[in-house]
Amino acid sequence: MRTTTHSTKDLDAAPPAQRGRPVHRPPTGEDPSLRAAYRLCRRITRVHDPGIYALIQLMPTVLRPPCWALWAAASVLDDLADQRDAQQAEREARVQAWTQALQCDLAAGTSTDPVRHALVNTALRWRLDLSSLQGAMTSTRDDVRGQHFADWAAWRAWCNGEIAPWVDQVQDLFERAGAPMTLRLERQQDYKRFIDGAQLTDILTDLSTDLAQGDLFLPQEALDAFPGAEDDLRQGSWSPATAALIRELTALARQWVTRPAMTTGMHPGAATVLNTAACLMRAQLDAVDAAGHALLKRTPRPSLAARTRILAPARIRSKLAWSLTPLTVPGPRPPTVTVSGPGPAAESTTLRPPPPHPDGARPPQIAADRMPAHVAIIMDGNGRWAEQRGLPRPEGHRAGTAAVHEMVYGALEIGLRHLTLYAFSTENWKRDTEEITTILEAIRRDLDEGPIRDLDVRQRWLGHPDKLPQELVQAFLREERRTRNRTGLTLTVCINYGGRDEITRTAAALAQAAQAGDIDPHLIGEDDFARHLPHPDMPDVDLLWRTGNEQRTSNFLPWHTTYAELYFVPHYWPDVDRRDLWQAITEYSRRQRRHGAVPRISP
Ligand code: IPE
Ligand code: IPE
Ligand code: MG
Repeated sequence: MRTTTHSTKDLDAAPPAQRGRPVHRPPTGEDPSLRAAYRLCRRITRVHDPGIYALIQLMPTVLRPPCWALWAAASVLDDLADQRDAQQAEREARVQAWTQALQCDLAAGTSTDPVRHALVNTALRWRLDLSSLQGAMTSTRDDVRGQHFADWAAWRAWCNGEIAPWVDQVQDLFERAGAPMTLRLERQQDYKRFIDGAQLTDILTDLSTDLAQGDLFLPQEALDAFPGAEDDLRQGSWSPATAALIRELTALARQWVTRPAMTTGMHPGAATVLNTAACLMRAQLDAVDAAGHALLKRTPRPSLAARTRILAPARIRSKLAWSLTPLTVPGPRPPTVTVSGPGPAAESTTLRPPPPHPDGARPPQIAADRMPAHVAIIMDGNGRWAEQRGLPRPEGHRAGTAAVHEMVYGALEIGLRHLTLYAFSTENWKRDTEEITTILEAIRRDLDEGPIRDLDVRQRWLGHPDKLPQELVQAFLREERRTRNRTGLTLTVCINYGGRDEITRTAAALAQAAQAGDIDPHLIGEDDFARHLPHPDMPDVDLLWRTGNEQRTSNFLPWHTTYAELYFVPHYWPDVDRRDLWQAITEYSRRQRRHGAVPRISP
């Protein structure tokens, strides 16, 4: 995260914030050190980034102190990574030490460092799981070594890893307060672009500071498009090439932050915050454009008049919107939250291995080149399992949950990378309400309390949010954020999923990208389509397994299964366990895959 305009060191000496003006008191009871800690966080935010400060002022009063704490923490880490008085190794060590101290402070429930004190209080009070910040903190530590991005894809990955986890925490805060900043699933791409646009705007704004430190956080691909521009920038010389590069980049950033559809259907208060952020960034980009050669000497800022024109109506709008929304402020809680230090080893201490199979069964040895990368399962036969036992159908769905856990344990034990489960199709709405409610409720309960939560599993959801209960969507988004840094197994649960729906939405996303000028419609290829799927990183399915004695694919993953090996078994879903998954994988390992080529004949 880049918030490098001022050093936090200057702030300790800064005068108390907003003296003489009414000051909002965070809910800190009588603890004066905590009040002082939050005040410092507010000051850091205001001095570091007045734009962010103004946006936080558009939030409900109760959410401002936790936002200051989060932002101040990110700024402090950024400064530790940037302090040019220290050698690279020393700066890396300082970021690491701060992060580790946070872990101890979270366990203790307090801190002697004021910013961490406020952050720990925020995490405990608002039940934030700060472990998802681990990746962002590691990325900040790595920034110390300077960054080089070959292309926009590498740049985006950095940007996503560094900023998104902090913004996710803010989303969690809104959710805890009872005003979820729900992003429609089909707008997730817009949201990612918006974050990219924010980062690019920041980089263009801070160009002079970064260049003075020898940093240039732009992808080589963008620099190479304007020959000579990189050298000129590094030498501090404003040439036609640099001017053209900056013009191109401000236009790109403007396009990325302009995502009007992103806030459709969102709470009007949250929508005002995001829309105002976009307006402020566009004003900032205008200031970058207007600066010309001065951009290489100082940080451009939009005029006070321009900022007021944006902020004054936004303040009225947000005040009205929040006044109509009752918010919940959770009470204090004893420390139970943990955060991991940088590095993959740290988080593994909070994760546990899967429980062993009751019979002691162990997975078969499968040669690495015979292992499927991705197994997808159509979990069928719950209803018939129940009917066979004279039970109502919903009982079959309840019983099916244990088989889901078994698949996850088995996948972890055999070392599978991707497991995708078909839990509820767009066609399953044709069933009666009680059955639908049981299926969706069982999934939500499992997300909240289930035994998978502490395993090394990155959980995510694929499907359409429309018609799904809000709590279920929120629970999934929460688990996605909480587990995003896990590396063991990627578990994708398909709920309200339909293959044709996915293809239609992907085509719509491509059409929008073409309309926005992000892609040339004449050059659209398979790769472009794949990049616009809801989960572009999901690999092709190697093995598609269906239980329940049916031999069809029922609108499941048409894009990903075009070359999948198919495996059908008669057992009903509640009767399977991890040994059946291993059996399916063993069967797969014996198949010969050709992908259209002539098979090689072994001598
Ligand atoms: C699969 O079991 C679960 C879902 C479709 C949600 P079914 O409920 O389809 O079970 P059968 O096919 O009727 O036995
Ligand atoms: C497919 O099962 C959907 C899921 C397993 C979630 P169905 O039972 O709904 O499929 P059809 O209707 O038999 O094709
Ligand atoms: Mg069925």
